Amino acid sequence: MKGIVFREFIDMVESQFSTETADTIIEASSLSTNGAYTSVGTYPHQEMVDLVSNLATQTGISVPDLLQHFGRHLFGRFVEIHPNMTNAFSDVFSLLSALENTIHVDVNKLYRDAETPSFTYEQDGQQQMVFIYRSRRRMADFAQGLIEGCVTHFKESITIQRDDLPPQGKEALTRFTLVRTANANA
Ligand code: HEM
Repeated sequence: MKGIVFREFIDMVESQFSTETADTIIEASSLSTNGAYTSVGTYPHQEMVDLVSNLATQTGISVPDLLQHFGRHLFGRFVEIHPNMTNAFSDVFSLLSALENTIHVDVNKLYRDAETPSFTYEQDGQQQMVFIYRSRRRMADFAQGLIEGCVTHFKESITIQRDDLPPQGKEALTRFTLVRTANANA
């Protein structure tokens, strides 16, 4: 996993919990760098799993809730850090439909060795989109948070139904059904 994700996670813990909490979870996790991540470096995914589970122990908040929270936060940060990757889109469905073939493709050019998930989608008119997450890293909670952060960013009214599907081999599969509510964009 890329260092930018670790750095953003640790910054979020420092600002939204405390610097002491960040120090405690860094010490409790077995990290290759002792918590000093560079944005473009690549580090074992297990280190993120350790950091989040130690944050859950410290705060009493569940791992899925923490990953969703981090995803919501990180979407806003991605918009700030990489405005050129998100500014071309004016609504949730257009951004999500470009995620697999444009945004994450550019991410892979910018960050060598990035491991992004695979997404397929089906859009049913302007009202509904079915979006399927597939990844060996099993971060559907994080994906959910990013999608929610995207909905907040565009100030749209969209309900998200999540269905975890049976895994395929080592890959987790999750279906997100997004439905625009009647007053969207009103
Ligand atoms: C709602 C929109 C998005 C969703 C649902 C999404 C989903 C994800 C997920 C779930 C991962 C974790 C890896 C995995 O599960 O296999 C990931 C990684 C990543 N995504 Fe996205 N993403 C979104 C938008 C973006 C945007 C706008 C950017 C940048 C401008 C971005 C940059 C990245 C980066 C840098 C990684 C880390 C790759 C690595 O650590 O190797 N994503 N994304």
